[in-house]
Amino acid sequence: MDAFSFDVIVIGAGPAGYVCAIRCAQLGMSVACIDQWSDKNNKPSLGGTCLNVGCIPSKALLDSSHHYSFLNEHAGEHGIKISEATIDVAKMQQRKNKVVKTLTTGVKGLLKKNKINFFHGTASFVDANTLNISGEQEQQISAKSIIIATGSKPFELDFLPIDQNKILDSTGALSLTSVPQHLGVIGAGVIGLEMASVWSRLGAKVTIWEALDDFLPSVDKDISTQAQKILLKQGIDIELSCKVQSAQIHDEVVKVSVLKDGQESTIEVSHLLVAIGRVANTQGLGLDTVNITCDQRGFIQTDDGWRTNIENVYAIGDVIGGAMLAHKGSEEGVALAEQLAGQHGHVNYHAIPWVIYTWPEVAWAGATEEKLNDQNIQYSKGKFPFMALGRARAMGETEGLIKFLSDAQTDQLLGVHIVGPNASELIAEAVVALESELTAEDLARTIHGHPTLSEGLHEAALDVAGRAIHF
Ligand code: FAD
Ligand code: NAI
Repeated sequence: MDAFSFDVIVIGAGPAGYVCAIRCAQLGMSVACIDQWSDKNNKPSLGGTCLNVGCIPSKALLDSSHHYSFLNEHAGEHGIKISEATIDVAKMQQRKNKVVKTLTTGVKGLLKKNKINFFHGTASFVDANTLNISGEQEQQISAKSIIIATGSKPFELDFLPIDQNKILDSTGALSLTSVPQHLGVIGAGVIGLEMASVWSRLGAKVTIWEALDDFLPSVDKDISTQAQKILLKQGIDIELSCKVQSAQIHDEVVKVSVLKDGQESTIEVSHLLVAIGRVANTQGLGLDTVNITCDQRGFIQTDDGWRTNIENVYAIGDVIGGAMLAHKGSEEGVALAEQLAGQHGHVNYHAIPWVIYTWPEVAWAGATEEKLNDQNIQYSKGKFPFMALGRARAMGETEGLIKFLSDAQTDQLLGVHIVGPNASELIAEAVVALESELTAEDLARTIHGHPTLSEGLHEAALDVAGRAIHF
């Protein structure tokens, strides 16, 4: 028996940290998990950004606002008559908070079930095996291995301090108690588009200012072009090639100064959301005490096995950068736990699904057509529009398309890109195909139920060989 308190300590109970802690415990290790997040009663609230102020609350509001816009804008097409749907934002927020509470409590239960010792407080390094925890009481614990899973936080602009009243980050935009009159958004990224969708569906005027000349440049161009058109049609104003120079709060309005094509203009909005990316959350961890190396952007550097430059210290999830997605962090957590147990866990970074939960949704996995061109990879492509699909017609959800890219020689699937209804669920089939190194022909020969949206994947796979049936 060595002198360490635990085999493993995981710092952070977000989707990277808590999943890693559970997998370590399943594999027979003694595990501690430390997290500093508190609810309004100063009690621990597990699940990190994802459960508290990220994936889950944003999807709760997206779902609620989607129902609202369906009732007001599309119910009539189905012969459903309602005089006018009204919105109770307080009730919507209560529901969101309840969803969050149920899930954060669930994570607490999962840690308990797996006999993980949970500590509520802020961890900082004393040495490479020892952490100080400052919380209700100060204590130190030690372990053979320490895993940093402290996540990320919003990137802020120096000239625009967040007050969560008029100048918001994503957390503020998720907690508004009434529909903003005019929401200005800096950044047409994932958060900008999802929050713009929520509040514009509920009646806010929304203007997004994006610095780049292209809309969603990392998304396949066919898909981003279509998504941009649809969002503009929904009334979301997306201004590209814009630089927000300054913003001043004057009574109830925020005056935003925007530079576009050399012309400066001032736009008044009621609220301004800053959604320009996220940075590693390493503040207060005492990385310097043990000399852990970060890259130029502040993300902790690791090798292929998530090991930092210190032998027994590892890092996973948002804090190491890359795709800042909950499921990416969780998979790293599982794979690292398995490696610590002498197994061969790995993460296939080429088969990670991305989803933007606008409506219709945008989802993709694998390479874009632009990337294949850049890399001089010869490919075949197939496309299928939702308007040609029976189930999409029945649902009244005909906007969007599915696109397949496969290797020109081997037909192995290289990328699948979707803008359309339930794209978030449809992409799962594509990820299985990518992970299993299937060909477009494999999917073309797979029987899909009728009538389903997944038939669109079948047709796009058929179209790779020019034999789609319904288009
Ligand atoms: P986090 O979830 O950030 O968790 C880190 C934890 O570490 C936190 O609980 C924090 O309190 C704790 N911590 C930090 N420092 C210390 C310390 N010194 N001591 C103790 N504890 C500490 N991703 C998706 O895949 N799908 C989505 O739909 C999605 N929607 C999002 C919506 C929004 C608005 C935002 C902001 C993010 C969204 N994300 C989404 C991204 C997702 O939330 C993150 O990728 C994910 O939470 C990262 O997980 P993590 O465990 O690495 O870090
Ligand atoms: P993002 O990286 O997705 O988008 C930021 C956008 O802001 C980019 O388009 C960028 O060009 C633009 N930008 C940067 N500086 C700017 C400036 N000064 N002026 C105008 N535009 C500027 O970052 P975002 O939206 O903050 O989200 C952070 C991360 O959170 C995402 O990358 C994603 O990993 C994660 N997330 C995932 C979700 C999902 O999976 N559905 C939902 C929400 C967040």
